[in-house]
Amino acid sequence: MVDTRTQSVSRAGLAAPRFADEDLYRLAEKHGTPYFLIDEATLRKKVSEMEQGFSEYKGVFRVAYSVKANFNPSVIRTFASEGILFDLTAANELVFVLKSGGSAENVMYTSITETAEEYEKIVRMGVRKIVVASYNGLLNLTEAATKAGVVVKAMIRVNPEVHVHAELRGSMGHGKFGLQFNGGSQDSAFYVLKKLLNTPGLEFEGFHFHLGSQIEDPACYADAIEKLEAFILGARRQLGPFTVNTLDIGGGLPVPYGKKVPTPKDLGGKIVEQLNSLVESIGDRFTLVAESGRFLSAESTVLVSRVVNIKSFGEAKYIYVDAGYHVLIDSALLRHEYPVEVVPGGKPSPQKVALVGRLCDPLDVFPISSRSKLGGAEVGKLVVFREVGAYSLVMNMPFHSQPRPPVLMRTSQGGYAVARKGQDAEKLFADEGGDCLSN
Ligand SMILES: Cc1ncc(COP(=O)(O)O)c(C=O)c1O
Repeated sequence: MVDTRTQSVSRAGLAAPRFADEDLYRLAEKHGTPYFLIDEATLRKKVSEMEQGFSEYKGVFRVAYSVKANFNPSVIRTFASEGILFDLTAANELVFVLKSGGSAENVMYTSITETAEEYEKIVRMGVRKIVVASYNGLLNLTEAATKAGVVVKAMIRVNPEVHVHAELRGSMGHGKFGLQFNGGSQDSAFYVLKKLLNTPGLEFEGFHFHLGSQIEDPACYADAIEKLEAFILGARRQLGPFTVNTLDIGGGLPVPYGKKVPTPKDLGGKIVEQLNSLVESIGDRFTLVAESGRFLSAESTVLVSRVVNIKSFGEAKYIYVDAGYHVLIDSALLRHEYPVEVVPGGKPSPQKVALVGRLCDPLDVFPISSRSKLGGAEVGKLVVFREVGAYSLVMNMPFHSQPRPPVLMRTSQGGYAVARKGQDAEKLFADEGGDCLSN
């Protein structure tokens, strides 16, 4: 029998949020394991950390939440109540935002597909700020705005082609995202800008770039801003005056995952002075937007799993939990070292320890960070994975007929609420085609 009366989960050196061991065991009894648990207060704290990071910017700074990182309605509702913007990439994300208390007015829409149908749909749902990233996209947006009879504020997504030191890079060598500043074809920021400035139904709003995710060296933002400044000044010489109302510097703010990474203050400190001098040099006090997914959502959430088996193999001790990469895909894909902790803990094992998931796949072995504490593991104890709120519960998959786990939220009032019901085997069977068997 596991003694749950000991201290809270978060001990020295481990990131917030803290949950009492008793609460984790009580929730495990009630909802089963694994389950995700989100802390609402941490979501709100992350917004204010971003705001503080850019507080020295002389114009208006707006935080945007990149919904792709975690579209759980309770998460969206929390951010909507903070009055921040939403970065969306799909019309269905807009449905989620509108149904969760957000408004179309606060949406910046950056599509990859850029079809006329998609644009018409979101424009009719009230979105007015749309980022285009191809010439075709511009034509499609024009068609959509004309059909809907509205004026759209269009931004141009540039790819500044800078080197990015990050886990996921989206600039140099990534033609999928954004337009080159100048280039021979109509798919260049210069040509799209020229066309946009002469298109009735569209108003030029500003520029957007996104450099990557989990960016560890913020110097790439400085390089991108420098290139953008040269582009704006050059384009004005050729096209005449135009006003930059908004500059969106994308996402990429990193999450620790067991190591030291720059904070929003570190990043802001590095580039705010440069942004302020950009304001001077182009003469536009643009609204600055930073759209974060990972930073805003990751640290709020833990995944709670249970030890289901332990065995020795040679020198090593293997700890089996009832989670796997089907609920934490980036442990296999990106080898993320989520900080992991046995609850309640114990003395570190003298043996080498491997933490393995329930899937019958050699990839289902969790990388262990230096901040992990796996001492005291016993069958029946809980194992908590930290900083898992981004790109995890929205990517759950039913490999090995595993139902989606429930998502719980500790509300700012201190109670626990269900933020997503777990599936059971019956529901999973039906969703996976069981309900088609009679056809
Ligand atoms: C255009 C855009 N903005 C923002 C983000 C969010 O990035 P992150 O979660 O690293 O902050 C992404 C992520 O892919 C993106 O593609």
